[in-house]
Amino acid sequence: MAILECRNIKKVFDADEAAITALNDVSMSVDAGEFVAIVGRSGSGKSTLLNILGMLDKPTEGEVFFEEKNVREMSEKERSTQRNTSFGYVFQSFFLEPEYTVSENVEMPLVIAGMKASERTDRVRELIEIVGLTERKGQKTKKLSGGEKQRTCIARALACNPSIVLADEPCGNLDTANSAEIMKLFREITKRGSAVLMVTHSEEDAAKADRILYMKDGSISNEKQ
Ligand SMILES: Nc1ncnc2c1ncn2[C@@H]1O[C@H](COP(=O)(O)OP(=O)(O)OP(=O)(O)O)[C@@H](O)[C@H]1O
Ligand SMILES: [Mg+2]
Repeated sequence: MAILECRNIKKVFDADEAAITALNDVSMSVDAGEFVAIVGRSGSGKSTLLNILGMLDKPTEGEVFFEEKNVREMSEKERSTQRNTSFGYVFQSFFLEPEYTVSENVEMPLVIAGMKASERTDRVRELIEIVGLTERKGQKTKKLSGGEKQRTCIARALACNPSIVLADEPCGNLDTANSAEIMKLFREITKRGSAVLMVTHSEEDAAKADRILYMKDGSISNEKQ
């Protein structure tokens, strides 16, 4: 079953002088537990698509379906709940709280979701173990390496057992060894039942996915053009 799907998405940005068509008739889907990579040049529309699929932005035209439900027909409250509980977001620029520890950053979505403090402690421990940061859990995230920060983001994204993790250039700041670790982590995530949709410039990272989609000038294709 497709858990996330878009049909005929068009996105036009109204820039100062000329309108920019960032996405043009994009249709695609991700199945439950699937690991899909999107590859494309800078400016091809990858982040725009990810933001629309993740309910962070709206398309100019076209429909997005989450678990077969049309996102346009959801209330703002429903979309907000889905963002907090069904999606995990991993972005290149981290958005971690630098003065908070690894544990505190990972705990945040659980607080928002209303989980009891006693349950949170166990869940946070488990998440930090999954990403291999147990020994760093009390460290402020501003003192972590790029790879460790990224793994903290992934633990945080997994906190509420999302149906899908959306990752925008998760390895953009990382070396080859750290990137390979993140790819392994994504594979494990899918074994736990979450799907992963990852945007990347790296063909090497993309090759670890179940399926690769190619973006070019706002269009998407199964074939490299
Ligand atoms: N808020 C915005 N306002 C105007 N134009 C935008 C906006 N966001 C993106 N664009 C334009 O839309 C196009 C696609 O941008 P997008 O960020 O989706 O590309 P990308 O594939 O993610 O690139 P990169 O690999 O550099 O991150 C670009 O031409 C960009 O300049
Ligand atoms: Mg981008």
